[in-house]
Amino acid sequence: MDRIELEKRVEELNHLLHQYAHAYYTLDQPLVSDAVYDQYFQELLAIEKDHPDLRFPDSPTVRVGGEVLEGFGKVTHENPMLSLANAFGEQDLRDFDRRVQEAIGSNVTYICELKIDGLAVSLRYENGRFVQGATRGDGTVGEDITENLKTIRTVPLRLQEPISLEVRGEAYMPKQSFVRLNEARDLAGEEPFANPRNAAAGSLRQLDPKIAARRNLAVFVYGIGGDGTEYGVDSHSDALDYAEKLGFYINKSRKRCQTIEEVIRYVEEWTAKRSALDYEIDGIVVKVDGFEDQEQLGFTARSPRWAIAYKFPAEEVTTTLTDVELSVGRTGVVTPTAILDPVLVDGTTVGRASLHNEDLILEKDIRIGDTVIIRKAGDIIPEVVAPIIEERTGDEVPFTMPDNCPECDSELVRLEEEVALRCVNPQCPAQMREAIIHFVSRNAMNIEGIGERVVEQLYRAELVYDVADLYTLEREQLIELERMGEKSVSNLLTAIEQSKENSLEKLLFGLGIRHVGVKAAEILAEEFGTLDALKTADVEKLITIHEIGDKVAESVTTYFANEDVLKVLEKLQNAGLNLKYKGLAQENLPSDGPFVDKTVVLTGKLYEMTRGEAKKRIEALGGKVTGSVSKNTDLVVAGEAAGSKLTRAEELEILVWDESQLLEALGESQ
Ligand code: IVH
Repeated sequence: MDRIELEKRVEELNHLLHQYAHAYYTLDQPLVSDAVYDQYFQELLAIEKDHPDLRFPDSPTVRVGGEVLEGFGKVTHENPMLSLANAFGEQDLRDFDRRVQEAIGSNVTYICELKIDGLAVSLRYENGRFVQGATRGDGTVGEDITENLKTIRTVPLRLQEPISLEVRGEAYMPKQSFVRLNEARDLAGEEPFANPRNAAAGSLRQLDPKIAARRNLAVFVYGIGGDGTEYGVDSHSDALDYAEKLGFYINKSRKRCQTIEEVIRYVEEWTAKRSALDYEIDGIVVKVDGFEDQEQLGFTARSPRWAIAYKFPAEEVTTTLTDVELSVGRTGVVTPTAILDPVLVDGTTVGRASLHNEDLILEKDIRIGDTVIIRKAGDIIPEVVAPIIEERTGDEVPFTMPDNCPECDSELVRLEEEVALRCVNPQCPAQMREAIIHFVSRNAMNIEGIGERVVEQLYRAELVYDVADLYTLEREQLIELERMGEKSVSNLLTAIEQSKENSLEKLLFGLGIRHVGVKAAEILAEEFGTLDALKTADVEKLITIHEIGDKVAESVTTYFANEDVLKVLEKLQNAGLNLKYKGLAQENLPSDGPFVDKTVVLTGKLYEMTRGEAKKRIEALGGKVTGSVSKNTDLVVAGEAAGSKLTRAEELEILVWDESQLLEALGESQ
């Protein structure tokens, strides 16, 4: 074959193998026999071996796994990868339905899907080609696991249309593959994986893609990027149908439901059928189907208000409670933990369980030596349900909380209206360590490489007493610590240095101000812009902010009135930390123009740009774009077929523009 013929043949083989693989793995409708597939595959492999330049990055032969990587790069998600709020029973589902109906009216369609128990991944395509795949990470930044994802046969390398988009889905390991993998590990003397989810995550975290290639993973896609306008769809169910046509592997069990009763029936049906599936599911995801409705419902900091994850009830098992251990948390609360004879619960081995507080131990009459029922509360945290009184021998010992802090020996106090016992010594080592652990955690400053163990070491070595001390650490000090190599020290110092650039909300959350969670930190950062401005705010000013209540306001002012706190903040400032909110890059915003300080709602279909683009441009001009129309809305831009939001705007007599007026304003102010 001459070169031109060879290139043509490679094109052809790529095309055929992609079609065959799609038909076989995704549609489950093979077009040719395995032998024919293998023959073409081998032919392509052979050509690529002799002519490496003819190996396309999306060649079907990448399924066997490419080169070993040095490490995973970071990927910043264009839109954060959120998680879902949980529902633990029928009542939670009904409450969800009520909230939805209150926001968008009674005419709502839900779509129910199986909640696959794996790990979330994002897949990006450009011109129909798979270009990048990432893990969720902290929701904002994940790891680039493209090469591993390429080995998964249900991840299409080429789509049926040359479009650019991002989809999200769940990577998982089928039950059978999991059992086989653990059998093989057992034979090889390796530690088995606790459950299919860990096995899938562990496989995708390997730097050698050949390992993932052998693990028989799959990806179900459950969401498609954008607001649908690009693809001419206006509901989640249509988007999934479209994604299926493009070649993605979509779970067939999805179902549209018109009422919450129907949703509950779906939940019951799958609760009964789940064990027959060949992959693990841990619940049912219920989503509002219409994109307009979804947009109107909007998001909290962590999750969309238009969806909820119903979790199957947890498995309950019995074991012996051998001891109670006490630990002191960040806020000084002393928490008792049950030490258990290890048992398998919902697929993972459990040896400890939270007992929450003394009252709970007394109320349930839990004693050391008891046989107890345990389960995983919600999803992951094991808890003691109750002792089995009939199993008592008389040797069980009732537990009482000590009068003094198990860490620093200062007297414990019970604050008014609280069940918890607290150590109120601000110098208590346990609290100091916990404060640092919180500061470096993902949603806070996200400093990788510092966990509980390192904090403990740093504290013992008298290197770090407060969070600001982290920024004074030097290579020579760290290298002295046990189990710290050159590489980890340099990674750690880089991570610390990088964290200086974080936007203000991460710092605010990291400081661990009582009652200031992720969402409140974000609101405060956005509202005040700088740490200095927030420091001087009084309660009156704070409570005028939407979504900031008395509790948070009191707590913030008390926090900043503390001399010790101010000293730490000064140290942080001197260390060069960014103390500004970066979210909207406020310093670059124009000071006048049609959108400055205006709250805008976009609804209906726009022709000249997507709603996402319009949002970005309005925000760049100082406007705020929100999802629902209220009396605080200044302007509603109504595209074609605008629905309930337009009606609401008219009711509230809010200014309404059509697309041409929007374009004019965007043009005028450029
Ligand atoms: S929708 C905004 N649908 O469950 C998040 N999630 O907390 C939208 N999951 O991390 C998620 N099956 O990885 C959705 N059919 C499904 C799912 C699903 C599994 C995972 C997902 C997410 C977690 C929910």
